Amino acid sequence: MRIDVLTLFPEYFSGLVQASLLGRAIDAGVLHVEIHGLRRWTTDRHRTADDMPYGGGAGMVLKPEPFFAAVDALYGAVDARPRTVVLTPRGHLLDQRRVRDLADSGHLLLLCGRYEGIDERVHDGLAHDEISIGDYVLAGGEVAAAVVIEAVTRLQPGVMGNVHSATDESHADGLLEYPQYTRPASFRDMAVPEILRSGDHARVAAWRAQQALERTRRVRPDLYARWERRGGRNPHEPRPPSDDDIDDARD
Ligand code: ADE
Repeated sequence: MRIDVLTLFPEYFSGLVQASLLGRAIDAGVLHVEIHGLRRWTTDRHRTADDMPYGGGAGMVLKPEPFFAAVDALYGAVDARPRTVVLTPRGHLLDQRRVRDLADSGHLLLLCGRYEGIDERVHDGLAHDEISIGDYVLAGGEVAAAVVIEAVTRLQPGVMGNVHSATDESHADGLLEYPQYTRPASFRDMAVPEILRSGDHARVAAWRAQQALERTRRVRPDLYARWERRGGRNPHEPRPPSDDDIDDARD
């Protein structure tokens, strides 16, 4: 997968693309990231990227010309453009379903806003999607772009060590994840639940299912209600073998 980022602050991303998961994905050739400084496509000697809002009001608005010049220079023809996403608090809320959809794109261009926003013609003329990472306002889209990069990278084939990790986790199935423990079995008077040490896989699965449900109901009643509306199947719960499993077993 390739991800391009257009930002006023390219230096923001320099540590990020070397770190841990992203660094490994890049080294493995699964991910290619290009960070482009927006000021490269400004034309005046002060490298001005923003201006006052028409109609008045506080703050500054990012000008359209550098965005369009950058996209023209980087990709040329309209049909050669990557899927283009503006990070903005007014966008669709990012959730795991949207992450999966973005992760399937092959090539993403992330446009980072700053100040009071980006000239609307950038949204109209360049963006396929507008995405917010939460109902709060950041100083700019850079942190949000980093969130998108990390979330889509870990879904790329071969990036996660354990193939089950991406499906067996919070949000993959609409529920929050059950509690996890590792050694030692007792630490500062806090013991690992006995059931997890019992070796009884069916009881472990049932306990995890119940924990996931309880936690979701308590912490995220909105997710719980949606999960119930969708039929309420808990994938952590053991299920009867399906035809697929039987086919798998034959292979
Ligand atoms: N830019 C500023 N706030 C943001 C948010 N919550 N999500 C995405 N981009 C942003």
